[in-house]
Amino acid sequence: MADKVRITIEGVEYEVPAGANLLQVCLDLGILIPHFCYHEALGPAGACRLCAVMIAPAADKPARLEMACMARTAEGMVVQVNAPYAKDFRRGVIEYLMLNHPHDCPVCDEGGECMLQDMTVLSEHIHRRTRFPKRTWENQYLGPLIHNEMNRCITCYRCVRYYRDYALGTDFGVFGSRDRVYFGRVRDGVLESEFSGNLVDVCPTGVFTNKRFREVYSRPWDLRTARSVCIHCAVGCNVLPGGRHDTLRRIKPAPNRNVNPHFICDLGRYGGEFVNSPGRILQARIESAAVESEKALRTAIERLKTIGERYGKNAIAAIGSGRASLEANAALALLVEALGSNQITFHASDAEHAAVREAVATIASREFATPKLSEIEQADVVLIVGGDLTAEAPMIDLAVRQAIRANARVYVVSPRAGKLDAYATQVIRCKPSTLAGIIEKLSSLVSAEGQTAEAAEIATIGTALRNAKRPLLICSAIHRDCKLVRATAQLARMVGKSGSSTPGLVFLLPSANSFAVGLMRKSQSPEKILNGIRSGQIKGLVALESDILSDDVLGTEWSEALKSCELVVALDSLETSLTQLAHIVIPVLPHYLATGTLLNYEGRAQRFEGLSLPSPVSQTASEVLLEALDTLGCADAIAQAQYSDLMYVDAQLNQGLESLTAGSDGVLVRGPSAAFAAEEAKPMLVQEFAPGIEIWNRVSFYGSEPLSMYAPPVLELAGEPTVEVHPTTASKLGWLEGQRVPLRPHAAEVRVIFNAEVAPDTISVTRFVQPVLSAMEAEVAEVTR
Ligand code: SF4
Ligand code: FES
Repeated sequence: MADKVRITIEGVEYEVPAGANLLQVCLDLGILIPHFCYHEALGPAGACRLCAVMIAPAADKPARLEMACMARTAEGMVVQVNAPYAKDFRRGVIEYLMLNHPHDCPVCDEGGECMLQDMTVLSEHIHRRTRFPKRTWENQYLGPLIHNEMNRCITCYRCVRYYRDYALGTDFGVFGSRDRVYFGRVRDGVLESEFSGNLVDVCPTGVFTNKRFREVYSRPWDLRTARSVCIHCAVGCNVLPGGRHDTLRRIKPAPNRNVNPHFICDLGRYGGEFVNSPGRILQARIESAAVESEKALRTAIERLKTIGERYGKNAIAAIGSGRASLEANAALALLVEALGSNQITFHASDAEHAAVREAVATIASREFATPKLSEIEQADVVLIVGGDLTAEAPMIDLAVRQAIRANARVYVVSPRAGKLDAYATQVIRCKPSTLAGIIEKLSSLVSAEGQTAEAAEIATIGTALRNAKRPLLICSAIHRDCKLVRATAQLARMVGKSGSSTPGLVFLLPSANSFAVGLMRKSQSPEKILNGIRSGQIKGLVALESDILSDDVLGTEWSEALKSCELVVALDSLETSLTQLAHIVIPVLPHYLATGTLLNYEGRAQRFEGLSLPSPVSQTASEVLLEALDTLGCADAIAQAQYSDLMYVDAQLNQGLESLTAGSDGVLVRGPSAAFAAEEAKPMLVQEFAPGIEIWNRVSFYGSEPLSMYAPPVLELAGEPTVEVHPTTASKLGWLEGQRVPLRPHAAEVRVIFNAEVAPDTISVTRFVQPVLSAMEAEVAEVTR
């Protein structure tokens, strides 16, 4: 079949893709056809009957009324959108659809962006003739994220097709009795899907609206917006934060065909309220006394210089972070260099440092293809290793769900069940320390035809990978297991050699900008710096948007060590346990009000713009650090600095990185992996709770990502940290269900939950970031007074 066909629409001939959805083709050409049930991601349903047009198979053949969303383009097709018969039909349909609509536009939260209103006007239904009582409904409580106003429903079925069919949610459906059709839950309750917020965008009218936005409602056209990138995980979804006066009011997806073509997860949609948090740092301070930011910066530089002169240059150290921009981390590296030190790191532990760098080096080498979300949807066999996709990279999870819908087989090797396990062909549950060994064994099996009885359990996975047309390996590098990262890369190599296709390879990374900090040339062992502080060799530390103190493995050690440090300088937008302990605190603009660059899990550099809202803080972290370099007289160093001098990236990419624009395709960075190979690989940090019983630090969708925990709805949904344990392990430990046990680093005792889907001899402890509430409480008390 030809790739292109010629069709005629409204008397004009177009060359369009063959066999394509006619409605989408018309919309892409800018020819507006009213529609409701069709959505580019959800596909056609032919349910609402609003997209009716006259279609003839050829110019000399009679035309008949057809739904454009159900028709496919074919050679010679003639389409009349504005034929009187079609227009009358559409006018009639919209009038029927609107019969029971409350016409409450002035108080509707959808106002200004209502598809129902647009389509009604487009269909030329102008006069309301209804004279009988309207059908009414009771609204449901759906949790803190979504508000329900059922009377506005026009039964287009988009919500249920999205929630159940697309996102594979199970707690939402359509219920009908005679002519009454209801979309919602069986009974009131919090929507369970991590992607429920997209109901706000797929519903063409105001049935499902953003509950947080409507609480302090603004008309959409009164919002200031900026093209930004989500900060809550390494997927790097494009988003559109909207602000009014001095607060961020909402976040919507900003579709980008290379990253998130349509949707975002609920953490991305609702986590951005950290910008409004009373935990924001709005005032610089030195030893708890409020000062101007300039003075704080000058004092910090003076004290750091004095430390260098008195104890030697390497008595100064710095720690960057995966939640700070590329520009800020690069400026920090330049600052450390300008102060004569080489003590810089970006992680809390050696194991994390090694695992992230190994993963990043592997992807940046471009030996393997790292698929974008739309390519992940095409996989036919997916192996998920060592993590919970729903919590660690939610939109990758949603992409895998699309693959599952297309009959992909999913295999999971992990110490604890994630939500995707429900769709898995096979699940292997194992202790954390045995993960890498299983993947190594799988590598050897992939190339071998035979199998031993002992390896039979994993042999089927090897066979599936070998025979797959589009195999995909997804491995979590968040659990600090460098050996597992290496083993998965080796498995990808073996599948490529022995199988019928080269697999895609994805590593899940801990933070939005982990890829960039993983490429930093000068990054040192964090534990060397920690030991330097402990031994008194390091006297001064600059921390950039980093809270190493809440690290679940070494947080307590960092906290103890920093107490003896002569000078801790913290640059941050939010109070953390580290800013509480710092001698000098310099406030910076939070993400969403700042500009910069983030590198996502693919190594795709994406520029983000900042919302311009009134704020007592005016500088981004990179601007503060560049000013510090200026104060040190290093203007030349700044001007000449190249990313390829600071990071393991190909020199020719400098230009690309510097000329990036927000919302563009971004730039896929490349790096020489050989440079990393020389670095030693630290093994996984196995944490034993008791002899033979290991700790698995479980990432939770709500509760583990630090910034989002300053957003009230996320804090509410996060609840409390728990420890999950297999009943057999519980009896070994003498634990009872519901009991509370002390567990580092959680301050309070943690509730025990029995879960047969946790590997035996493993305890699964929630990574839980407690927002520093003291500042928030102080503010609330202030307001109450
Ligand atoms: Fe943000 Fe990650 Fe969710 Fe995308 S998947 S919206 S980047 S938290
Ligand atoms: Fe075609 Fe609804 S959009 S029938």
